[in-house]
Amino acid sequence: MDIIPTGAILGAMVRGIDLAAPLAEADFGAILRGLARHGVLCFPGQDLTPAQQVAFSRRFGTLEVHVSGVFQEPGHPEVMILSNLTENGKPIGLADAGQDWHTDMSFSRTIAFVNVLHARRVPRRDGRALGATLFASMVAAFDTLPAATRERIERLTATHDFAKFWEMMRARHAGTTARQPLTEAQRASKPPVSHPMVLRHPLSGRRSLYADPGYTVRVDGIGAAESAALLEELFAHQLRPEFRYAHQWTEGDVLVWDNLQTLHTAVADYGPDEPRLIRRCQAMADFVFGPEARRLTAAPALEAAG
Ligand code: SIN
Repeated sequence: MDIIPTGAILGAMVRGIDLAAPLAEADFGAILRGLARHGVLCFPGQDLTPAQQVAFSRRFGTLEVHVSGVFQEPGHPEVMILSNLTENGKPIGLADAGQDWHTDMSFSRTIAFVNVLHARRVPRRDGRALGATLFASMVAAFDTLPAATRERIERLTATHDFAKFWEMMRARHAGTTARQPLTEAQRASKPPVSHPMVLRHPLSGRRSLYADPGYTVRVDGIGAAESAALLEELFAHQLRPEFRYAHQWTEGDVLVWDNLQTLHTAVADYGPDEPRLIRRCQAMADFVFGPEARRLTAAPALEAAG
């Protein structure tokens, strides 16, 4: 297995491994190290069944079943279908998933470690792939904040709310979105939660800015106006072009990204007759903060990974 950095601020290609086969411990350790270092890993040319995608994704942590309960792969509720395709006039997937800057599951008490997306159909126009996923490095964002802001936010927590992104997308695509109003039970299952605004990565030790325009609603313990001003400053800073990386999809790609150190957004530059079909799993950050992840990534034999 080779981990080849893209040379950009984020990203590496991982070649020479078939993710459909059981993954050796040493390879998984190398993948974890590569992920901690590069934030986004692309495994091109994969052909996974939903069960194989689940088995691979589960290595990274407990898999989330999306609170919306919609567009699940039959027999595999942990796999959500992201697609603009329809069958018999009905959508087969969530068509507007992730189409603004956010980090996944920051609204959850246990936050997300990775997303594992497997591209089955990629929209194209004139031979050019559309529907890219953009990323931004929150390590770079944190490192380049003024020292006073870094010190300030290290002492602060912020509240994240699932409803913020959901309602924003419902308003933006009113009349066309498949997103239904959240039920009381859905709201109750994902109440707003607070997290530190700076995370220390459990594998790399690097600090990242943990606040995102998609889900972060306020900074805790300060006045509303002060909170709004601080978030506005951080949101503008964290999306500076020099922190960004674009992944252009090819069918068969498996893309794994680290939500602890990145934000992302899906680019909606394709039309209804340009099909996009991606299967998604989300693994929570339970395993990665535990001793087993540290043991796997500390092995000397893995030093060469990426
Ligand atoms: C997501 O936010 O998980 C979806 C990203 C994408 O479809 O590109």
